[in-house]
Amino acid sequence: MKKLRTAVVGIAGYTGAELVRILSLHPGLSLERAFGASTRGQRLARALPSVAGVAGLEGMVIENLAETSPEALSKELDVVFTALPHAESARVGASLYRAGLQVVDLSADYRFSELSTYEEWYGAHPEPELLSKARYGLVEWHRAELADARLIAAPGCYPTAAILALGPLLQAKLIEPSALVVDAKSGVSGAGRKPTASTHLPETSEGIRPYKVAGTHRHTPEMEQELSRIAGVSLKVLFTPQLAPFSRGILANCYARALPGVSVEQCRDAARATYAGTLVGVLDDDTLPDTLWVRGSARALVSYALDARTGWVIAFSVIDNLTRGASGQAVQALNVSRGFPEALGLPLVAQFP
Ligand SMILES: NC(=O)c1ccc[n+]([C@@H]2O[C@H](COP(=O)([O-])OP(=O)(O)OC[C@H]3O[C@@H](n4cnc5c(N)ncnc54)[C@H](OP(=O)(O)O)[C@@H]3O)[C@@H](O)[C@H]2O)c1
Repeated sequence: MKKLRTAVVGIAGYTGAELVRILSLHPGLSLERAFGASTRGQRLARALPSVAGVAGLEGMVIENLAETSPEALSKELDVVFTALPHAESARVGASLYRAGLQVVDLSADYRFSELSTYEEWYGAHPEPELLSKARYGLVEWHRAELADARLIAAPGCYPTAAILALGPLLQAKLIEPSALVVDAKSGVSGAGRKPTASTHLPETSEGIRPYKVAGTHRHTPEMEQELSRIAGVSLKVLFTPQLAPFSRGILANCYARALPGVSVEQCRDAARATYAGTLVGVLDDDTLPDTLWVRGSARALVSYALDARTGWVIAFSVIDNLTRGASGQAVQALNVSRGFPEALGLPLVAQFP
C-alpha cells in the first residue's frame, strides 16, 4: 500500500501525542513532519517521551510551521492534522487547505454549519468562508458526506459521547426531543497538556467536580447541532460536564423521556441497527459500560436502561477522549474520506485493565 504522507501541527500536545501513536500503527499513513510552538527545535522524544527509542520517530525534529510555505509543504505531504487551540487551528488549517493539502482539524473551528453559532460560543472566526467546505467527522452519522472530504472537522469529545448514545433514540423517535440531559464525566487529559492549578494532581486525583454548567460549556451547541439534525427538530441539551479523577475517558449518562409504550429493547435495537458494522458497540441487556473498557481504543460503547417508574431512558456511552474523542476519530474520518476501511490502523482492543 502506498502510504499517504502526513504531518501533525501541535504534535507535542495530548491529541498530537495520540496521533503519533496511531500513525505509527497505520499501514496507509506515514508521519513525515512534526510542528510545534514552544517545543520547536526539540527532538520528538524530548517533547513526547512516548516515542523514546522508537526508530524513525525519536529523532524527528519539531519544526516551526512559519518557516516553511504551505505551497512547499503541499509538494511533500498529502494530509496535515491540525491539533491546536481553536482560532489558531482555523488560521493554520486554512493556509494548508488553500495550498491543496487535505486538512483534518481537531479543534472546534470547522465543526459548525452556522457561523453565528461558532461566533456566539467561540468569538470571531478567522476563516468563515471555509466553514461550508468542512465535513463533520463523526463517521457513524456522516459517512457519505466524508467521501472525498478535503477539510474534516474531528468532533469534540463530549459531543461524540452524547451523540453516539442519544442519536439512535432520536432517529427512531423513541424519546421526546424536548427534554435531553447529558451528565458527563471526563478524564483530565481533556483539558490539554498545559498544567493549571485546577488540573494538577492534588486538585484532581481524589475528587470530582462539575464545571461550566447550565448551558455555558462550549460543547453544548455542537451536541445541539448534531442531535437536532438527527431528530429533524431544533432541540436543546442540558449539559453538565464534570472533571473526574483519571487521565483518559468519558462516561456520558444521557437522560431522556421515553415516548409512550417504548421499551428498552427498542432502544437497544435502534442502536444495533444504527451501529451494525461500525466502531460503536451496543452492550447486551443490562450490562453497563466502564471507561476502562475503551481506554486507548477508537471504539465507543453504548448501553440503555429504562426507569419504568419515571418513564426516563438512560443512554450511557463511554469513549477514550483522546482516541475515539479526538485523534482516533480523526483518522477514522480520514480513512473514510480516502476509501480505506474505516478501522484501518486504529487500535480497537482497549488497554485493560
Ligand atoms: N484533549 C482532548 O481530549 C481533546 C479532544 C478533542 C478535541 N480536542 C481539541 O484538540 C485541540 C488540541 O488539544 P490538545 O488537548 O492536544 O491541546 P494541548 O495538549 O494543549 O496541545 C496543544 C498544542 O498546540 C501547540 N500549538 C499552539 N499554537 C501552535 C502553533 N501556532 N503552531 C504549532 N503548534 C502550536 C502547542 O505546541 P507546543 O507544545 O510546542 O507549545 C501544544 O502542544 C484543541 O483544539 C482541543 O480543543 C482535545
